[in-house]
Amino acid sequence: MPKILFMPKGIEVEVAEGTPILDAALDNNIHIDHNCGGNCACSTCHIIIESGFEGLNEITEDEEDMLDEAEGLTETSRLACQVMAKNDIIVKIPKIESEWDNDTF
Ligand code: FES
Repeated sequence: MPKILFMPKGIEVEVAEGTPILDAALDNNIHIDHNCGGNCACSTCHIIIESGFEGLNEITEDEEDMLDEAEGLTETSRLACQVMAKNDIIVKIPKIESEWDNDTF
């Protein structure tokens, strides 16, 4: 089963192969915004894959279009609802402005 290490909290979870990263996070009380409900229609679930990027499912054109809207885009950015757990990865959840005042993610 693939392991996902969520940073900056340093929480590691093990999930069934094929589980969307968004679900893996939410099921383990790790907050990732997901305004469109995981339908590839926003960019609020933007994550950065810090390790294991190469083994993941390929990015689709729709995902690329949505990612273009994401703040702080990097070469290894993905949408958490569109990328499935397949291999061990390290995921960085970018801190969003509304969370600077509290510690909820
Ligand atoms: S939740 Fe909207 S694109 Fe992932």
